[in-house]
Amino acid sequence: MSAASIATAAYLVAALLFILSLAGLSKHETARQGWTYGVVGMVVALAATIVLTVHDSSVRGTTLLVLGGAVVIGGAIGLWRARIVQMTGMPELIALLHSFVGLAAVLVGWASYIEVERNGLGGFTGSLLHIHHAEVLIGIFIGAVTFTGSIVANLKLSARIKSAPLVLPGKNILNLVALLAFAALTVLFVVHPGLWPIIAVTAIALLFGWHLVASIGGGDMPVVVSMLNSYSGWAAAASGFLLNNDLLIVTGALVGSSGAYLSYIMCAAMNRSFFSVIAGGFGIEAPKGTDDGEQGVHRETSAEETAELLAGAARVVITPGYGMAVAQAQYPVAELTRLLRERGVDVRFGIHPVAGRLPGHMNVLLAEAKLPYDIVLEMDEINDDFADTDVVLVIGANDTVNPAAYEDPDSPIAGMPVLRVWEAANVVVFKRSMASGYAGVQNPLFFRENAAMLFGDAKTMVDEIVGALAAVRPVPAFA
Ligand code: TAP
Repeated sequence: MSAASIATAAYLVAALLFILSLAGLSKHETARQGWTYGVVGMVVALAATIVLTVHDSSVRGTTLLVLGGAVVIGGAIGLWRARIVQMTGMPELIALLHSFVGLAAVLVGWASYIEVERNGLGGFTGSLLHIHHAEVLIGIFIGAVTFTGSIVANLKLSARIKSAPLVLPGKNILNLVALLAFAALTVLFVVHPGLWPIIAVTAIALLFGWHLVASIGGGDMPVVVSMLNSYSGWAAAASGFLLNNDLLIVTGALVGSSGAYLSYIMCAAMNRSFFSVIAGGFGIEAPKGTDDGEQGVHRETSAEETAELLAGAARVVITPGYGMAVAQAQYPVAELTRLLRERGVDVRFGIHPVAGRLPGHMNVLLAEAKLPYDIVLEMDEINDDFADTDVVLVIGANDTVNPAAYEDPDSPIAGMPVLRVWEAANVVVFKRSMASGYAGVQNPLFFRENAAMLFGDAKTMVDEIVGALAAVRPVPAFA
């Protein structure tokens, strides 16, 4: 059996493992298994590529050295980053990794063009050559959009640039002009290949990607991350065509389509138009309601008062958010839940689909703290129960409990479904200041009569409540 047939069989196995991996990752119970399939698939794919390269007679020793060096250095950096990244830093790391895929696609496109030019057009003639030229420009375009778009996403997610949407005058026209210019240059390049159309497309795509993501507001960033995931998949598939590598085409298409579907599901969950998010906020005008100043008088409470309130409650709901993850407060929260349940209090959790910084973030933290699954409910399962709840503890959440989403049509988060915590008898908000949440909007909940602010680090505050609860005797639950 030749090295090429072994590699083809191995690529087929790897592609199947990637499909099984995606299927496994779609459910909590099978996620670990899905992850294992993915890792094995990637090892098989890498081994097959190395075997293929070793047996290629045109490949010299230096190429193998470069290949080995890239695998070792890249693998070591990846391992190091994955080990040190905090759970809260995952989305920005993912965005950075997408930018590498985009950059790789740009480099593959350029290398492929230079290679064909240098080798006197190689085996490409007639319409094959035209197709090749179109592939080069499409690959470069998708790759460059993914590259700069992912860098802007990384900077926004890590708060190194502001998360508010950039609204340039005539931004939709600018996007349209960029797309038309790309189409025209591709046709020109196919008919008259040359250096300057390729340079122009690279420059236009870099600017287009930057503008596309800069135009999207902080509240929509979760969708952007999965959208860039999808773009990176299409960029990889385009590279697969240029490199004549079937596995790269299949894997790229898998990532591209699953990322697009995830973006679609997230848009539906956040009541956003899928088209306007993937088209860089197309049709979305500058939000008028970005007032992040104080909107009334807020009331402060203490850990002792909160402990007393909880001791007299029959039904408590905890809605955690990003702040609980930052403070690592899930362990004292689990202890507080245990103490309250021992006292006969009905404690449940309400999880917003985009609470924290990545889908499922809160579920992972609560599972880590060994909280029973059956008291952790999704937003839709708990939203109608707030009106019958005595106390809601909003622990480090902000945008996901913001009534402005329902009540202020000018708010940047208008229309996004949120946890209706304000319908409860009492709401205690755990945070360190009156600062706004990720979307940069102030929260009118903080100024409601039934709400009280518990300022301080969430972990310290929950620890103090746990301590204070021991001193509070159980009192009959209020009606
Ligand atoms: P946010 O709206 O970001 O609010 C978190 C709150 O936690 C902040 O108001 C902050 O207030 C507080 N906080 C931070 N550190 C704290 C600490 N140590 N102790 C106590 N409080 C602390 O979070 P959320 O409600 O979970 O909403 C998620 C937001 O992130 C949404 O806008 C969502 O669109 C966006 N987002 C989500 C994703 C995904 S995929 N889920 C990805 C990217 C972005 P202080 O600073 O005053 O303490």
